[in-house]
Amino acid sequence: MIVSVEKAVEIITNGDLVAIPTETVYGLAADAFNVDAVKKTFQQKDRPSDNPLIVHISGSGQLEMLTDSVSDAAKTITESFWPGPLTIVVHKRANVPDVVTGGLNSVAVRMPDNPETLALINRTGPLTAPSANRSGSPSATRATHIEHDFGVDFPILTGQAPSLGIESTVLDIREEPFTILRPGSVTAEMIESRTGFKVQSSEKKSDSDKHSPGMRYTHYKPTANVSLIDEVPSVLKSNSTYIFHSANELKSGEGIYNYMGDFDKLAHNLYDHFRQADYLGHSQIFIEKLPNDENSSILFALKDRISRASSS
Ligand code: TXA
Ligand code: MG
Repeated sequence: MIVSVEKAVEIITNGDLVAIPTETVYGLAADAFNVDAVKKTFQQKDRPSDNPLIVHISGSGQLEMLTDSVSDAAKTITESFWPGPLTIVVHKRANVPDVVTGGLNSVAVRMPDNPETLALINRTGPLTAPSANRSGSPSATRATHIEHDFGVDFPILTGQAPSLGIESTVLDIREEPFTILRPGSVTAEMIESRTGFKVQSSEKKSDSDKHSPGMRYTHYKPTANVSLIDEVPSVLKSNSTYIFHSANELKSGEGIYNYMGDFDKLAHNLYDHFRQADYLGHSQIFIEKLPNDENSSILFALKDRISRASSS
């Protein structure tokens, strides 16, 4: 059920949950400083309580509500990328409830790029928002995905549906070089070239603490089995979804998609294809292997999500 900013303010102020559109995926929002409301988020999603939430803010000034000292690096990075698909991990202020951070002494923060959501946060203050899906399912990128997971009456704030389709980059900026804990459409190269700070990916660190706590869980996994294929087969199996990016002859049919090199569009639709495969009862999803070198900034994140979905 689509609701206005006014109605969403009322829901949040009452300590309840509302789904919010962002440029990445839909979020499931609660008042970050209301412990009972934040707890409802975990219940609604069936999410493990040690998987911390991202706090969404509408202006850099709100960062001071969440961390004691905003570093120069934080200022430079957020000025370059906010509002946008970059989450930063900083030392948390004592007043941020433990339920938000799963007991960690750090907090993840981002400013989403969506006018209605920013207008809501302006009125309510910081909101926690994990992706608006049941835990273990693909993130919700369409209002219909939220209706499927939480029912048709679940409130969804009005506004443009997510354009990117893949969750934000999570960057730990507590210690240099900074570490990417979850890849997204903002890449290490983009951060380095725009801000001059050195950035490494968590895979390069042997220390498992450097991984995003949530990466332990089986995210992004449809029920159908996901496998990678090297080329476009001449005969397609029934009861299967196919995602191609290079097919010359256009193959068509239910559950057959060809992106002709448009990886931004593929990212926009990926989770919907995963969900549609499940709704259609397909047992297999075949994805043509993505190319290695590509200028598209979304490609790295896309590969990460596809490899997670296809891992056993
Ligand atoms: O694009 C997005 O980030 C979306 C939209 C709604 O903003 N949100 C999202 O939230 O993807 P969620 O909860 O599905 O994923 C948050 C990720 C998890 O992997 C979590 O472990 C990590 O961020 N995270 C949260 N707080 C953290 C912290 N203090 N330290 C390290 N990782 C953290
Ligand atoms: Mg999620």
